[in-house]
Amino acid sequence: MKATYQVLSPGDVRSCNEHDEFASDLLYGMSQPVKRIPSKYLYDETGSRLFCRIMELPEYYPTRCETEILLRYSPAIAQAVSSPRLNLVELGAGDGSKTRILINELRSQKIDFRYVPIDISESAVSGLCSNLSQECPEIAINGLVSDYFVGVDWLSHQNAARNLILFLGSNIGNFEPAHQIQFLSGLWNALNHGDYVLIGMDLKKDAAIINQAYNDAQGVTAAFNLNLLNRINRELGGNFDPDQFVYYSAWDAFDGAVKSCLLSKKSQSVYIDALCRAFSFDAWEPFHTESSYKFTISDIREKVRRIGFEIIENYSDARHYFVDSLWQVIKQ
Ligand SMILES: C[S@@+](CC[C@H](N)C(=O)[O-])C[C@H]1O[C@@H](n2cnc3c(N)ncnc32)[C@H](O)[C@@H]1O
Repeated sequence: MKATYQVLSPGDVRSCNEHDEFASDLLYGMSQPVKRIPSKYLYDETGSRLFCRIMELPEYYPTRCETEILLRYSPAIAQAVSSPRLNLVELGAGDGSKTRILINELRSQKIDFRYVPIDISESAVSGLCSNLSQECPEIAINGLVSDYFVGVDWLSHQNAARNLILFLGSNIGNFEPAHQIQFLSGLWNALNHGDYVLIGMDLKKDAAIINQAYNDAQGVTAAFNLNLLNRINRELGGNFDPDQFVYYSAWDAFDGAVKSCLLSKKSQSVYIDALCRAFSFDAWEPFHTESSYKFTISDIREKVRRIGFEIIENYSDARHYFVDSLWQVIKQ
C-alpha cells in the first residue's frame, strides 16, 4: 500500500501572519512586570529536536512514566473508547513516540481510526506524519500545524466520528491555572456528548526529583531555553547575546509549579528590529520562559467536576509520579 499523509499548514487554517503574532506576543510579554514569552515559542525546529533529547534524559521522568502507563494500560484504554469509527486527535503531539503504543493497540483491536496530530511545530508534525505513514501505511493521517486553539476550533466543525483527544506529556501544566480551566472548557465545548479525552498530568512529588528533571547534568534543558533567544534573533531581528543569559529553573511549592527563566547576567539592552525598539534588563532580572504546574488527584477531580467531564479512570505509573486520566464528555 502506498504511504500517504496530509499536513495542513497554518495558512490553510488561519489567515493571521505568524511573525506578527510572535512579535506582538513578545511585545506584550516584555511589557509585563516580569518579562515573559509564551512557552510555545520554545518549539522551533531546533527546540523540537532538543525536546526529543530532553525526553531521553535520565533525570526527565515524565516521559518514562507515561510510556510505562501506556504500555500497561493501552489495552484497557482502547477497550474503554472502542467505537466503530474513531478520530484520534492529538494536541501538541511532538514526535508522537508514546502515542505509537496506543496506535498499535488500536490496530491490534481492529478499531477503525484516523490520526490527527496537531502541533505548532511544523518540523514535529511533518516528521511524525512521514515516519508514521512509512511504518503504518494503512493509517489515515491528517497532520495539522497550528496552535491548540485553532485545532480545538477546527475540531468543533468535525462531527463525523467519536473523538478521542490526546493531550499527553503534561502540556496542560504549561498553562496558568485560570487558563487551564478556560482551555479545558473550550475543549469540552468543541466536543460531542460521549467523546473522550486522555490527558497526561505530572503529579506533585519530592521537590528534589522535580528540580533534577528541569536541571539536567548535560545542560540540554538549558540549551532548549536559550535557543529561544536565537529564535528571536533570527525571526524578529533581535540582538540577544545568549552568552549573557543563564538558564534558571526551580520548583515553587507555594504555586505548585516549576518556574523556568533566563537570567540576565548583567545590566544590558536588547534591540528587536521587528518591534523597532530596545528593552533593558537589569542584572539578574528573569525572562520567564515556562511554568510547569504539577497536580494532585483531587485537583484533577475538581477540574473535571467544574467543567462537566466524567472521569472514566486514572491510570498511573508504579511510583505514582504521573497520571493519564481518561475523561468522557457528558452533555445533557
Ligand atoms: C512538552 S512537549 C510534549 C510533546 C508530546 N505531547 C509528548 O508528550 O511527548 C509540547 C509539544 O506541544 C507543542 N506545543 C506547545 N505549545 C503549543 C500550542 N500552543 N499549540 C500547539 N502545539 C503546542 C510543542 O511544539 C511540543 O511538540
